[in-house]
Amino acid sequence: CGIVGYVGPQDAAPILLEGLGRLEYRGYDSAGVALSSKGALKVRKVSGRVADLAAELPARFKGSPGIGHTRWATHGEPNEVNAHPQLDAAGRIAVVHNGIIENADELRAKLTADGVEFVSQTDTEVVAHLVAAAFAAGAGDLEQAVRQALRQVVGAYGLAVLDAEYPDRIVIARNGSPVLLGVGEKEMFVASDVAALIGYTRQVVYLDDGELATITAGGYRTYTLDDRSTAKSPSTIDWDVVGAEIGDHAHYLIKEIQEQPRTIERALKGRIDERFETAHLGGLNLSVREAREVKRVKILGCGSACYAGELGAQLIEDLARVPASAEAASEFRYRNPVVEPDTLYVAVSQSGETIDTLAAVQELQRKGGRVIGIVNVVGSTIARQVDGGIYLHAGPEMSVAATKSFTSTVAAFALLALHLGRMRDLSPEQGRRIIAGLTALPGQITEIIERSEMIAGVAAEIAQSRSVMFVGRRRGWPVAREGAQKLKEISYVHAEAYPSAELKHGPLALISPEMPTVAIVPDDDLLDKNTSTLSEIKARKGPVIAVAHRELPAELADRTLVIPKNEPELDPILMSIPLQILAYHAAVVLERDVDKPRNLAKSVTVE
Ligand code: G6P
Repeated sequence: CGIVGYVGPQDAAPILLEGLGRLEYRGYDSAGVALSSKGALKVRKVSGRVADLAAELPARFKGSPGIGHTRWATHGEPNEVNAHPQLDAAGRIAVVHNGIIENADELRAKLTADGVEFVSQTDTEVVAHLVAAAFAAGAGDLEQAVRQALRQVVGAYGLAVLDAEYPDRIVIARNGSPVLLGVGEKEMFVASDVAALIGYTRQVVYLDDGELATITAGGYRTYTLDDRSTAKSPSTIDWDVVGAEIGDHAHYLIKEIQEQPRTIERALKGRIDERFETAHLGGLNLSVREAREVKRVKILGCGSACYAGELGAQLIEDLARVPASAEAASEFRYRNPVVEPDTLYVAVSQSGETIDTLAAVQELQRKGGRVIGIVNVVGSTIARQVDGGIYLHAGPEMSVAATKSFTSTVAAFALLALHLGRMRDLSPEQGRRIIAGLTALPGQITEIIERSEMIAGVAAEIAQSRSVMFVGRRRGWPVAREGAQKLKEISYVHAEAYPSAELKHGPLALISPEMPTVAIVPDDDLLDKNTSTLSEIKARKGPVIAVAHRELPAELADRTLVIPKNEPELDPILMSIPLQILAYHAAVVLERDVDKPRNLAKSVTVE
């Protein structure tokens, strides 16, 4: 979900709408705004997109300060009533909130017993009533009322509170879900992440967990739940605004797919050391000695970040010969993980805000683990939480489905593997081979993108299927997983990924002329193994689409998407790209909402 707020001399509504539009990647089930005007609140909410909200606002919907929200439903259906802001009974207090209040049911029961009538099913409404109750119990000002309310709350929140009786301010609070302040000239902003502030200010103040802030047009004050002042000074954000614009493209997704030659270049820039055949990674904060003592690497992330991590683990094992594995951060954090001092933990997150990944990092750090990040968004929560890391510099990724961040993450892992490898057993010659491979990637990606039309033809056929199987082995297996993920999330065509050899242990029963298989078939030492899988599929009359380094014969594949060959360790980067293009065109044929698939959010900041 996304939060915005504005206090200052301007009319708040257009600023809130613009900010919400930029935060829609965090959810877009419903949206709402509240403004303070002449001692009362004006509130508008819709189920649907920010554009629907903008269309709903009457011309006279003016005022300041104001707060707004775009939602990804957790509690309650994404309808108008459950949209934020949530109000108290008198309509005086408005709250927008990200996160989950764990004792909401208990608080709701208590407030109901006191005669409060709830209108929504949200946990957020509880906060509005608690603030009102704090005033009724004698709280002296808005800050005190919010502090009293939040002292009763258990759970995660990033929130902003507007009170009609205090038309000069917004009170915000953070505990486990990010909120930050934007500092302007005689105006102040609130946002759940910096994306909302693009075009308004580059000066931001990040709140820490357990911290609150009051903003007025003239400035801000930060303090804790027991009202101790905290000292905070603004930091400057460096945001590539141009990267966030869609330009002439029909969708952000295709723009981001096509950007990959450049984003890979940016991931590599300044990091390749030709002289010593290694990679420079200044942000790791890992001395040579520490790096040499690493006995194991554990990679954590969610969704595509986790699949990129699986490729990263293979790169690290291949090049550095350090045992490495990847796991969904959401699983890791809940199984009381054994944290070893000589394990290097790597948190992967495009947004740097995914709550499950952040929680895994915090759990590791509590147990003394050393965590580095591979993150795209500079200054994001995970980037600030980790002990060092690698930024992707891929520019803003706007489409919900990850594309350029996926390939850049794998490239970053190749650099990390090279770096660790060259401190151990990787020879200069092998280092040179990987560097040559990395430098060839942008040109080869361009070649694949130039073949998009052919891939679009195959996509039109795939789009007619009810279900598609993706198979690969070794490095091809995470590629297959990511390919299946892309197809299902943006086209809603069911897809399943299996390691090729596992097919015969169950899913082969699904293969029929109606169920096509997309197979990852690199020209490597496992080529024979892969072609025998294809024969097994063809023998069951299953249509096969192969991603391979050369055209496969008709008895093995009905179609081959031929891609250029790099080094075997780096081929997965190239093999992922036709699968992105395939999913994109399938989604277009099916007229899906490509950049904002139903039920999803780009950055999942709730559990
Ligand atoms: C969401 C997105 C996925 C993404 C995942 C992790 O589920 O829809 O595309 O891979 O979160 O996001 P992160 O920002 O942590 O990489």
